[in-house]
Amino acid sequence: MISIKNKVFVPYITANSLQQRVAEIGNEISKDFKEECPILIGVLNGSFIFLSDLAKSITIPIEVSFVKVSSYSGTSSTGAVKNLLGLDFDLNERSVIIVEDIIDTGLSMKHLLEMIRRENPKRIAIATLLLKPEALIHPINVNYVGFEIPNKFVVGYGMDFDGLGRNLPELYQLK
Ligand code: IMP
Ligand code: MG
Repeated sequence: MISIKNKVFVPYITANSLQQRVAEIGNEISKDFKEECPILIGVLNGSFIFLSDLAKSITIPIEVSFVKVSSYSGTSSTGAVKNLLGLDFDLNERSVIIVEDIIDTGLSMKHLLEMIRRENPKRIAIATLLLKPEALIHPINVNYVGFEIPNKFVVGYGMDFDGLGRNLPELYQLK
C-alpha cells in the first residue's frame, strides 16, 4: 500500500507481468509490421515508460516520435483535449503506431486519430498498455491492448496522480 498526496493506492499489476505482456506486444508488432519500418508515436507524458520498454522489445527497424496532449486533471477527465506538443514528423504513406499508456473515455485517442489521419499515413495502429472498457465513450478500434482493467484510477509505470507516481515500476490501483 502506498499513498500519494491524500490518496491510498494498492498494488495491482507487478513489474514482471507488465514486462512480460509488453514483450508479447513487441513480438506481435515485429511480425505485423515486418519491412514497413513503422513510426511509433508516443503520447506524452504517460506513455514514456511503456514506449521505451516496447521499443526495446521490437526487433524490426522502427522510428520514434512523440506528441503531447492533455485531457486529465486529478483523477477525472476534463472532457476537452489540449494539444501541448504537435506532430513534427512527415507521416505521408507511413505506417504509424500510436502508443498510449491508457485509453479511458477514448476522447484523447479520437482526437489523436483525427490529427494523424489528416497527415495521409498508409496505416494507423493503436497500442495501449491499458484499456478501461467500462469508461469508453468514443468507440475505438484498438489493435494491441496490454490489459483490460476496471474503471478505477491507476498510477505507476508512467501514469501519474497529480504529477506523481510515474516512476513506480509496477502499477497501483486507487483503494
Ligand atoms: P481519455 O481521453 O479519457 O481516454 O483519457 C486518456 C488519458 O487520461 C490517458 O492517456 C492518461 O494519460 C489519462 N488517464 C486515464 N485514466 C487514467 C488513470 O487511471 N490513471 C492515470 N492516468 C489516466
Ligand atoms: Mg496518456
